[in-house]
Amino acid sequence: MNHSHSHSHTHDHVDFDWAAMADLLELEGEAHLPYVRGALARFEGQTPGRILDVGSGPGVAACEMAQRFPASEVVAVDGSPELLARAEKRAARLGVQLTTRVAEFPADLPDLPDADLVWSAQVIHHVGDQLGALTQLAGRLRPGGVLAIAEGGLAPRFLPRDVGFGRPGLLFRLDAAVTDRFNHMRDELPESVAVAEDWPAMLRDAGLADAHSQSFLVDRPAPLGAEPRRWLRDSLERQRQVLADYLAADDLATLDRLLDPADPAGIDNRADVFLLVAKTVHFARRP
Ligand SMILES: C[S@@+](CC[C@H](N)C(=O)[O-])C[C@H]1O[C@@H](n2cnc3c(N)ncnc32)[C@H](O)[C@@H]1O
Repeated sequence: MNHSHSHSHTHDHVDFDWAAMADLLELEGEAHLPYVRGALARFEGQTPGRILDVGSGPGVAACEMAQRFPASEVVAVDGSPELLARAEKRAARLGVQLTTRVAEFPADLPDLPDADLVWSAQVIHHVGDQLGALTQLAGRLRPGGVLAIAEGGLAPRFLPRDVGFGRPGLLFRLDAAVTDRFNHMRDELPESVAVAEDWPAMLRDAGLADAHSQSFLVDRPAPLGAEPRRWLRDSLERQRQVLADYLAADDLATLDRLLDPADPAGIDNRADVFLLVAKTVHFARRP
């Protein structure tokens, strides 16, 4: 996803090398699985004929769907063949049936097969015209089919306000930095359209009915287990890199100390690390 158009921002170009983020995305998907399970529980007892996971990345949610709906055809769709290869490996490891399909958004969305459930998590905000993308996805639904979009919620909490050193409240300033970078990322997207991000209203504008939202918690109390902790470390490391221009020097120093594997107060070693996240999923149905 390299856009090379020129721009005049203070910050560096926001680029995502999705394939290089495979490990991070897979660990993240696993750390956040409880919200996916919560959302999928709503479809208990149903057998969607075909399910699309649009922007599946390494396929954690797609494999969960394949496990939960063994009679359904589950298709993981993504722009990155490398990530889809990871999804295939994961499916083989878990012994579930998964089909993959390379597609670029929004250009290839109209060519996707029709489906009874279209799931798309943390993807629409990477497309310039979000309402346009939702409308294309809505168009892939069979009559009665459901579109489920995971966007928004509450940012991760994983440390106390005062971590014992540095200026208290680091996570709140991280939120602000992430938001600034997010705005910058959206401004840079090709054909970026500003829209009020009222997701149920957008789903209605996309021609769907019964639009509503539900939030699901990921609540892993301290001490955080090894795998989600690995995600947290990798994710903080990435934030340290990409938010360097957006954070004050003292907060960068706090992050450096948190990321030091030899420091007993570092993220790898402290007993008070937890993971608390709320994810919001917006559901709507094709009449
Ligand atoms: C933030 S990841 C989300 C992965 C997964 N759905 C999850 O919730 O963990 C975004 C995914 O969307 C894919 N993606 C982003 N923009 C895309 C585009 N314009 N076309 C195709 N795929 C895209 C990326 O390759 C990546 O796998």
